[in-house]
Amino acid sequence: MVETIEQRVITTEFTEEDSRIENSLRPRLLGEYIGQESLKQTLAVYMEAAKTRGEPLDHVLLYGPPGLGKTTLAGIIANEMGTHMKITSGPAIEHPGEMAAVLTKLGKGDVLFIDEIHRLNRQVEEHLYSAMEDFAIDIVIGKGAGAKSIRLDLPPFTLVGATTRVGMLTAPLRDRFGVIHRLEFYTPKELATIIEHSAGVLGVEIEPAGAMEIARRSRGTPRLANRLLKRVRDFAQVRYDGRITREVADHTLTLLKVDKFGLDQMDQRVLDTIIGKFGGGPVGLDTLAAALGEDAGTLEDVCEPYLIQNGFLQRTPRGRIATEQAYLHLGVSRETDGE
Ligand SMILES: Nc1ncnc2c1ncn2[C@@H]1O[C@H](COP(=O)(O)OP(=O)(O)O)[C@@H](O)[C@H]1O
Ligand SMILES: [Mg+2]
Repeated sequence: MVETIEQRVITTEFTEEDSRIENSLRPRLLGEYIGQESLKQTLAVYMEAAKTRGEPLDHVLLYGPPGLGKTTLAGIIANEMGTHMKITSGPAIEHPGEMAAVLTKLGKGDVLFIDEIHRLNRQVEEHLYSAMEDFAIDIVIGKGAGAKSIRLDLPPFTLVGATTRVGMLTAPLRDRFGVIHRLEFYTPKELATIIEHSAGVLGVEIEPAGAMEIARRSRGTPRLANRLLKRVRDFAQVRYDGRITREVADHTLTLLKVDKFGLDQMDQRVLDTIIGKFGGGPVGLDTLAAALGEDAGTLEDVCEPYLIQNGFLQRTPRGRIATEQAYLHLGVSRETDGE
């Protein structure tokens, strides 16, 4: 598929520019982490209890669409517990030996963050079970008839797993997490708070109405909010007096084809296709993905949650259906686009 600049700007996937700037915008303590109130409250209690007992926090599984703050929260857990975080990911660990190497390097109480944990292969995953449960790992030394298995003790640690696809986790792995929590999309008000804080870090002046305009159009996602803020800042500096007002934000986001609901071009294409090619649905996920030339997983993890939550799309046993609101929305955007 040909990617346009607009699509890259508003993708919720991680880009290189993000990694450069994200670290400076990342909150380090629970008190600085905006939103996700129920998660914050329960975690605060669990962390305090674990600290009182002198134990590491129970293993935590965080799931939800990209850009909602899973990695950030893992870092916060390590900070709040006064320990270090080691980061790896499901696809990065191919062999049990590599998993053993990661585990044996952990210090007492450390946080091991495994991103995309649903992508661990079966063999590696099975080695993780005893590590999580007994803080021990069995490794095989030697080959053939002389091979023997030895058990290595590990320091107590906290595994924080993150995934966009909790349904793909095996039951044995899921069951070994003491805390399992889904991250929610953020409200515009919460995003506006994040944007104002980020603007402060970036040294840009922003009016509350400007922050709110970006917030409303950020798909409920902090990563996107920060990215759009940077684009709006560029326009504010080059075309205006440097200050982000509602007008500057609206002008920039309209140019970037982010619509009033924060739907990006991909979201719009999904709705367009369901309505235009499949009479509004129901259409199965795989059929829809093929028609769009997109990966079904991406569609399900990245696009659909926001469309469903905001009433544009329904998931039924017979497939996806475009709602009345989707028709209304596309009707409106077709007129304003002059198509
Ligand atoms: N609750 C939050 N409060 C403030 N900023 C946040 C919050 N959640 C995420 N962010 C910002 O969004 C960016 C993306 O978050 P990240 O943790 O990398 O998402 P995920 O791991 O879920 O894809 C972070 O760099 C951070 O700046
Ligand atoms: Mg992440």
